[in-house]
Amino acid sequence: MSNELLTMAIGARLRSYAPYSGFAVGAALRTRTGAVFCGANIENISLGLTMCAERVCVGSALADGHRDFDALAIAADSRTPIVPCGACRQVLAEFAPGLRIFSRTLSGTKAEFSLSDLLPHQKDGILEKFHVEHA
Ligand code: THU
Repeated sequence: MSNELLTMAIGARLRSYAPYSGFAVGAALRTRTGAVFCGANIENISLGLTMCAERVCVGSALADGHRDFDALAIAADSRTPIVPCGACRQVLAEFAPGLRIFSRTLSGTKAEFSLSDLLPHQKDGILEKFHVEHA
């Protein structure tokens, strides 16, 4: 099940735009209904406006009306499987606090994480003064 999603992430990686770092990342985000949204990192000359592959997936899924996520796969040509950056963890936590995350290198080394382990205390105290209900 995760293998199929990882294969999609490897394919998405080919669409990366990473002229500054040269580090191409692909990701594939699956909804609970089985739809998959792919993304790749999109860099910018400002560097700070760079979008990670993971957040590109989330934007694509939301724009298509999907918010209920089940699993995320990530692929990069690294020595060890990459983990989502802090910013992406927080964005993913907005919609899927316990998301399962699969990551692999191009040479086939795999790792599996839970977003709740990667980002504990995801929303503690934030905006509680305004009585905002977290999903
Ligand atoms: N990057 C991702 O797309 N996802 C990650 O999980 C880590 C980093 C991208 C951002 C930037 O384009 C390049 O990899 C180097 O940081």
